Amino acid sequence: MKLTFVGCGYLGATHAACMAELGHEVLGMDSDTDKVAILNSGKAPFRERGLDEMLTRHTSSGRLKFTASYAEAAAFADLHFIGVGTPERADGDGYDLTHLFSAVRRLAACLKNPAVITVKSTVPVGTAPRVRDLLHQIAPAGRAIEVAWNPEFLRESFAIEDTLRPDRLVLGFEAEHSWAEAVLRRCYEAVVRAGTPTVVTDWATAELAKASANAFLATKISFINAIAEVCEVTGADVGKLADILGHDARIGRRSMRPGLGFGGGCLPKDLRGFVARAGELGVEQAVVILREVEAINNRRRERVVDLACRELDGNVAGKRIAVWGAAFKPETDDIRDSPALAVAERLRELGATVVVTDPQALDNARKTHPELDYADDPVTVVEDADLLLHLTEWPQYSHIDPRSLAARAVAPRVIDGRGTLDAGAWRQAGWTVRALGRP
Ligand code: UDX
Repeated sequence: MKLTFVGCGYLGATHAACMAELGHEVLGMDSDTDKVAILNSGKAPFRERGLDEMLTRHTSSGRLKFTASYAEAAAFADLHFIGVGTPERADGDGYDLTHLFSAVRRLAACLKNPAVITVKSTVPVGTAPRVRDLLHQIAPAGRAIEVAWNPEFLRESFAIEDTLRPDRLVLGFEAEHSWAEAVLRRCYEAVVRAGTPTVVTDWATAELAKASANAFLATKISFINAIAEVCEVTGADVGKLADILGHDARIGRRSMRPGLGFGGGCLPKDLRGFVARAGELGVEQAVVILREVEAINNRRRERVVDLACRELDGNVAGKRIAVWGAAFKPETDDIRDSPALAVAERLRELGATVVVTDPQALDNARKTHPELDYADDPVTVVEDADLLLHLTEWPQYSHIDPRSLAARAVAPRVIDGRGTLDAGAWRQAGWTVRALGRP
């Protein structure tokens, strides 16, 4: 099939490449001409495992191209995906849909023939009818344009896997057995054939799928982190507790790693977006738990700052603190709402010199946090440090020999904010170890 993808960020670039991988002819469209040039050269403008190889393969084969022209996109196909960003509003009270409606308007103006517009961007429930009305009003093809809702659940660093072999496929339509449904079923035929559970539903359910999935994941993480708070005053071990709970198949161990909590471009934003929308709809009481989920998440950051102060005799001013990790999670260079950087920033505000290292995210961190100091690797960052903080659990950090580090620090003290360092080995190497939720 021929299809386009409007908006080539994490979601769009990955989806476009994966659709080419499935055999479709794909045109990616983004109004950022620099991004288009990078993508056409077979590279991603951000790091995502396996994506450069896939982009190179399909831009070379001719099955995948990128453009900055809406007119070209509209003429290319009659199936268009939209995956533009829906960031948080400046007032923090819900989503900013400016990019979405702008993309819809500009694409609509060029749609002369019947087409299916499939939105993948994360939105507040109730957006689909507004998109339909706008399309019908502006598109020359008018009411021959159909709208489908196809929420996206991909995790950064597993984006290709999650796109080609998703846990489920959710397709929302205005009416049963529509033309849009037939078109999307053809598009995703290989994914469905591979056994992906497919749920066909109405628009509102499809819109709510993403909001409620992310709200649940965030709740699960905050639940185990709330238990960690109890562990901290009882001497219990939240890691062991998570294992014990996880063996119960009804609970499951996934998304229950205790530690510094969640960040990134999705969970925090979607949580607040969901609460804001529920408020508008008069059902805020139904999601009041999500406010507590966010509060627990913020308390984990404060807890690390507090522990750091205590380790440094109540005053971090003038102290040198080394930080392992800047990315919001391992295997990405994404620093959006990074818990690690939030802690680093707070300690700097309190007067510490904070030196951060990260295998992939340093370039991005330097741009947004020029006031922090940076070191290229996890060994030199420890040089003359009064305290080491382990805040993003890159696997390589767990393999560093603590003995070789101890002599570099002013004092061998570490706070493990992610619980993945071998506390026994570190203590044996002479380090004082504190870990969230662990004895
Ligand atoms: C998330 C959802 O997983 C995905 O389905 C949705 O489409 C977008 O948001 P992503 O932001 O890539 O994906 O990251 P994820 O792996 O879910 O982690 C989110 C944050 O939670 C990270 O900061 C991570 O460190 C933290 N986390 C995750 C935990 O603290 N504990 C866990 O058990 C899991």
